[in-house]
Amino acid sequence: MNNTYIIREAVSDDAEKMISYLNQVGGESDSLIHGENEFTVPVEGVKRKLAMSKDSENSIVLIALENEQIIARAELDGYYAARIRHRAKLSISVRKKYWNQGIGTEMLKRLFEQAKKMNIRIIELEVITDNAGAIALYHKMGFIDIGIYKKYFYVNGMFKDAVVMQKIL
Ligand SMILES: CC(C)(COP(=O)(O)OP(=O)(O)OC[C@H]1O[C@@H](n2cnc3c(N)ncnc32)[C@H](O)[C@@H]1OP(=O)(O)O)[C@@H](O)C(=O)NCCC(=O)NCCS
Repeated sequence: MNNTYIIREAVSDDAEKMISYLNQVGGESDSLIHGENEFTVPVEGVKRKLAMSKDSENSIVLIALENEQIIARAELDGYYAARIRHRAKLSISVRKKYWNQGIGTEMLKRLFEQAKKMNIRIIELEVITDNAGAIALYHKMGFIDIGIYKKYFYVNGMFKDAVVMQKIL
């Protein structure tokens, strides 16, 4: 793809753009926890969350922007307790118009670099079993399947299972 986007860490001033992004991207697939316009956290809450991630030693939110609009978001959410501090939970989304152009791959590479700097050893995630694109991306990037989480999602009146995956850095 013609690389016209930039990737950087999100800051509290990105809160409004982030809310708008999450409400749009949620309507573009059934694989995210929020559907279209279902992200109802107030702007102050999102500002706080982004500021906390920015200051955190084991969490980070990356965004990709084109023309100052968020087109992708990837997050590592680390744990507080010492015994599980080597682990972090991954979530990622890309606006549909930009799928299959390598942005997800690039965001994950950047997150892995940051994870190593933060001494995170294991990145974990759950992905709905019918989400072939995301599963292909995760396998390509070195994630392995560790089990099935039954009835992980309830969407459109149906339960859906998820694959639990981990990547050891
Ligand atoms: C999953 C997602 C983040 C991937 O982002 P992306 O920018 O499209 O990812 P990339 O272009 O870097 O890579 C996608 C890979 O999946 C492959 N792929 C896409 N659809 C596929 C399918 N149906 N079956 C198999 N492989 C598929 C692509 O060929 C590509 O692999 P390649 O690099 O070897 O060619 C994006 O599709 C998305 O936001 N989906 C909706 C939200 C979501 O599902 N998030 C994950 C929740 S766990």
